[in-house]
Amino acid sequence: MKLFEPIQVGPLTLANRIVLPAMVTRLSGEDGHVNQDIEERYVRFARGEPGLIVVEAMGISQSKSGPLLRISSAEYLPGLRRLARRVHETAPVKVVAQIIHFLKISRSGWRQTIMDLTVAEIRDIVAQFAAAAGRAREAGFDGVELHMAHAYTMSSFLSRMNRRRDDYGGSLDNRLRAPSEVLKAVKATVGDDFLVGVRFDGEECIKDGYSLPDAQQIALRLARLGAHYLSISAGGKFEDAVKKPGVPIYPYTGYSGDRCMPGKGYPDGFNLYLGEGIKQVLVAHGFPEVRVVATGKIWRPEHAEEIVTRRTDLVGMARQLLADPDWPRKVRDGRADSIIFCEYGNVCKALDESFQKVRCTLWPKDALHAPLSAKAQDAPPPQWPPGGARLRAHLEHGKVRLNWERAVDPEASLAQGSPDGAGGIYGYEVLRAEGEAGTAALAHHASIRAATPTFLDVEVLGGVRYTYAVKPYDRRGVRGPCSEPVSIELPPP
Ligand SMILES: Cc1cc2nc3c(=O)[nH]c(=O)nc-3n(C[C@H](O)[C@H](O)[C@H](O)COP(=O)(O)O)c2cc1C
Repeated sequence: MKLFEPIQVGPLTLANRIVLPAMVTRLSGEDGHVNQDIEERYVRFARGEPGLIVVEAMGISQSKSGPLLRISSAEYLPGLRRLARRVHETAPVKVVAQIIHFLKISRSGWRQTIMDLTVAEIRDIVAQFAAAAGRAREAGFDGVELHMAHAYTMSSFLSRMNRRRDDYGGSLDNRLRAPSEVLKAVKATVGDDFLVGVRFDGEECIKDGYSLPDAQQIALRLARLGAHYLSISAGGKFEDAVKKPGVPIYPYTGYSGDRCMPGKGYPDGFNLYLGEGIKQVLVAHGFPEVRVVATGKIWRPEHAEEIVTRRTDLVGMARQLLADPDWPRKVRDGRADSIIFCEYGNVCKALDESFQKVRCTLWPKDALHAPLSAKAQDAPPPQWPPGGARLRAHLEHGKVRLNWERAVDPEASLAQGSPDGAGGIYGYEVLRAEGEAGTAALAHHASIRAATPTFLDVEVLGGVRYTYAVKPYDRRGVRGPCSEPVSIELPPP
């Protein structure tokens, strides 16, 4: 597969084309130091062997922001060094640090904006980015990613909402001024042999915000200034965020937030046209070597393969790799049928919003990281109880309710305890097809935690017949036998 062909990105060769984009874990304390939990989280990601790991946003200044990693002074270097070293020791994975500057927000609803910054303060921020990038290099990271996306300072300069009246606002050239100064200063500090990527929005996804045409111009400027890769995100803005009294505003609560982390109801690869459009313009202007990372609800192996074959150089998978960090290894080793698929229910996002430790709801209750399998490769898969799965479907207020019997894992006693007391079973995959279908026609529809052998399908229409089946899986994701299919037709509307 093309996904697993090595690829040159700036001065580095990545072993494959899968990227873990930055994902805040809220595992650090407010002190911002790397701790054991953070190390374990990234070692776990590294075990799955993506080509590139982008470590979550690290603050380049001391502004308060709950639990967030910091890279704002030399005191953070020992922890960061440990983190980079442990990732490298775990697998042939490259690791970069995402560095971020953000402005102040308060519980009262007030927030500082780029309109408030003096030119001296902007110069200070530029210097902070350069110093932080230098520290990332010193700490042994393979590169640095400049956070110029979402609601943060550099993205606010790029934004069409940037209404500064001086050289830093108004025209696209002026909106690009501070981000360009940052990139130049970073490159001057770390040199050409250190990977430098930039993450920015391909579209702001807010009224009067910018979209692909501006993003293409931004990409060309960043390419000319020596960015090695561009990681394309979308939305995540303050402008349309939902204000809750007494709580600092969270920029992922409005429609632009949905576009940044598209949930269940949105199409797969929702933001793909942005990465694709940016790649096209880079190629057309003589920058084919500047790599583009597309992210946003990418989880199916065939889809990821199609993307790296025809659309962008690299695929980013954040929530899918949180759910199952072993996705890259499983696909590479022909074990895609044991992937645990993300639900896109955005519980991880809600945890981030409330400053709680970011976990995945599909993991066993209380697990701080995706569990490792303690079992041998050839361990027997889960089984249904003697009477079978007894899958039943009935209508519940216009939706379809499925119930089934709990499966058991033959080696539950050998496994590392039984998640949720669910007999060693880790979860269930719900499969669905429209019409009366044999099991071959059924496709992945949902992932269910082991503790709840029931599922309510809300994505159904009157007058349509649906066929369902379920498969249990263990900690390795190895599926047990498919249940007998069951069909149900909804009354016509
Ligand atoms: C819990 C959480 C934390 C995130 N933290 C960051 C971050 O620190 N920096 C960043 O650029 N994006 C962050 N993102 C956005 C992701 O990198 C990614 O763009 C988004 O989740 C869409 O990709 P996906 O559909 O593969 O999850 C975060 C997303 C989630 C769910």
